[in-house]
Amino acid sequence: MKYQRIKGTFDILPDESPKWIHLEKVVREVMRRFNYSEVRPPLFEMTELFARGIGEGTDLVSKEMFTFTDMGGRSLTLRPEATASVVRAYIEESLGKQAPLTKVFYIGPMFRQEKPQKGRQRQFHQFGAEAIGAADPRIDAEIIAISVQILQECGIEKYEVAINSVATPEIRARHRVELLKYIEPRAADLSAVDREKITRNPLRLFDSKEKSTREIMLDAPLLSKFYDDAVNRDFEIVMAALEKLGVPFVVDPRLVRGLDYYTRTAFEVRSSLLGAQDALSGGGRYDLLVAELGGDPTPAVGFAAGMERTLLAMEATGFKGLEASLLDLFIVAVNEDERREALTLAGRLREAGISVDLDFLGRSQKAQMKEAARQRARFAILVFSDDLATQQYTIKNLASGEQERLPYAGLMRVIVSV
Ligand code: HAM
Repeated sequence: MKYQRIKGTFDILPDESPKWIHLEKVVREVMRRFNYSEVRPPLFEMTELFARGIGEGTDLVSKEMFTFTDMGGRSLTLRPEATASVVRAYIEESLGKQAPLTKVFYIGPMFRQEKPQKGRQRQFHQFGAEAIGAADPRIDAEIIAISVQILQECGIEKYEVAINSVATPEIRARHRVELLKYIEPRAADLSAVDREKITRNPLRLFDSKEKSTREIMLDAPLLSKFYDDAVNRDFEIVMAALEKLGVPFVVDPRLVRGLDYYTRTAFEVRSSLLGAQDALSGGGRYDLLVAELGGDPTPAVGFAAGMERTLLAMEATGFKGLEASLLDLFIVAVNEDERREALTLAGRLREAGISVDLDFLGRSQKAQMKEAARQRARFAILVFSDDLATQQYTIKNLASGEQERLPYAGLMRVIVSV
């Protein structure tokens, strides 16, 4: 039996992990500046949480969740996103009582049973932020600004921020009536997949990838025609705040999201550096979700970004990845006495903050020197039995070839001076 990774999953190998660590560092630094604190919710939850939170009628819930039954017969699901989990934790842990506004962020894997392709996996990673407790539309702009700030600090310049207001359920219901009046006579011209959306969520026809549907939707009544004064006013405030924060954006009245919980502001950041899956991040306001999941009515807004896609965009921008941090030194020891001394020496050096490796494969001196070079160690320390009595070591600078015989204190001086 030859084991293989599951379709749509990837190993992040030693060569790639420095890029991930770099991206995570940028995320944590930007979140610190905006005063968001890290949370780490569990990777699985009750299935019902996602079904209620994200919406039974969405593709995500109806087709894409990894759901299983535990030994107690409960239906559990690997999280397809983190907003529902954060809101569950917010309610369960009464975070709203501890602070009037909860600002949190997360970094971690998500799971969706989608058809894998470039930029679309079954296990992928997101970083995201949620601000729970404020109805002020200016915080919507803050959320968008965070996602843009992270992209900029990753060196990504080619992207577009598209925003829209998806209004309220009442406004969407009024719009739906008009939209259906327009669509139903044209239903025969839609593909089978899109025809199914007519009953489930006709708004999603606006982001269809099918050419025929796109043409039909060009003249479809837009949701924006149905906005009331409050929705219009909030949307204006978001746009003015984005201008103040220096975030360029376009209004896309056809932007709809794949999750049901959104109200008012919805946004996406897209990049031409990516292929068909061009959304780097997305989010928006979800004022009804906390109450929907059993909490007191509490306004909230947030976003999440795909980390694989962010890394793809960084690579397309010319980011080559970072060098794995170099090894400080490799200790070369051959016989038993030397190997014992090597272990003690490695311990002392590591305690002093130096990165040290040594041979565990019984290799010859020559082979160990080759290994030190392969690992691009800065120094090799050769331990010789003859020097043990006087506690001397031979240190070789592998870049210059310079070599010296020194006691421990001397070694430290040489290592820290380079
Ligand atoms: P989402 O738009 O479903 O929103 O996902 C956000 C981002 O995750 C996408 O823009 C994309 O970059 C990445 N992504 C999604 N699915 C995949 C996949 N299969 N493979 C690779 N990357 C993927 C949410 O998840 C919401 N929870 C965002 C949010 C937070 N809204 C409010 N707060």
